[in-house]
Amino acid sequence: MSDLIHRPRRLRRREPLRALVRETRLAREDFVLPLFACAGEKVRREISSMPGVHNLSVDEIAREAVAAYESGVRSVILFGLPESKDETASGAYARDGIVQQATGAIRREVPDMIIVADACLCEYTSHGHCGVIRDEEVLNDETLELLARTAVSQAEAGADIIAPSAMMDGQVGAIREALDENGFEHIAVMSYAVKYASAFYGPFREAADSAPAFGDRRAYQMDAANAREALREAELDFTEGADILMVKPASVYLDILRTLRERFDLPLAAYHVSGEYAMIKAAAAKGWIDERRVMLETLTSIKRAGADIIITYYAREAIRALSE
Ligand code: PBG
Repeated sequence: MSDLIHRPRRLRRREPLRALVRETRLAREDFVLPLFACAGEKVRREISSMPGVHNLSVDEIAREAVAAYESGVRSVILFGLPESKDETASGAYARDGIVQQATGAIRREVPDMIIVADACLCEYTSHGHCGVIRDEEVLNDETLELLARTAVSQAEAGADIIAPSAMMDGQVGAIREALDENGFEHIAVMSYAVKYASAFYGPFREAADSAPAFGDRRAYQMDAANAREALREAELDFTEGADILMVKPASVYLDILRTLRERFDLPLAAYHVSGEYAMIKAAAAKGWIDERRVMLETLTSIKRAGADIIITYYAREAIRALSE
């Protein structure tokens, strides 16, 4: 007879037992699906480094939102590729801007969809930086005014949540104040509070045509080596009135997610970014990994680390896998 008392294997014997003691469960409500709106009509252009993700004209994005809703997606986050770009990113805050139009179209077709609008300038500036430039420097306070205008125009178009991602100091406060002054005190702000200067954004920059024409984003996005600074960024955004905090990217920053979960009581989002998606897709296409299992394991680990909300290009596939 063995003198083993504790045998963790007792609860692993069969799937129903494992399910009974499972600590982390993914649900369809956890996911936010990113969509890319572009000019034109009947445009559905696949992004080569992101299989299954497309640039969609306004008519197509509305159809995509209907299909996503029917497959269980309850939230989308919108990005825009404007027809033309300029120094002051005027496409970001135009009344008939591409994201504003897409928001209206999705709201009409799927009234219950939660629409998150990404508030940044990089998709709309001719130089691809997230703010206004002078002498190759991104100007902070001048950019805040434009981000605030962008947020108000997105709220006017019908967005439920504004998600500032430019990493300008004070952007949450500036947006909160502008929303309140314009009668949008009920519109929430999901702050990209902790956004690292990451090589994992590569495929997104193809999708959004937003690679910087010179330099990089290290003068405003965070250094990958810093964890204490993440707490300072989160604290500032909390103080400025953020309703939801976000960490981005997700799977290589799980320690940061865990720390934020322990230190803040706001809902916490994680952005499983384009490069994280593309790596799984590429390895799966080679037949080197089991895509479904790697996807679910990755998304589960993001939730286990502390995320309540997961923004991922896998939203539809994950929801489908959950119901199988
Ligand atoms: C806009 C923005 C970016 C992403 C989300 N919002 C690009 C960047 O900062 O360069 C990246 C998302 C992804 O890689 O999936 N600033």
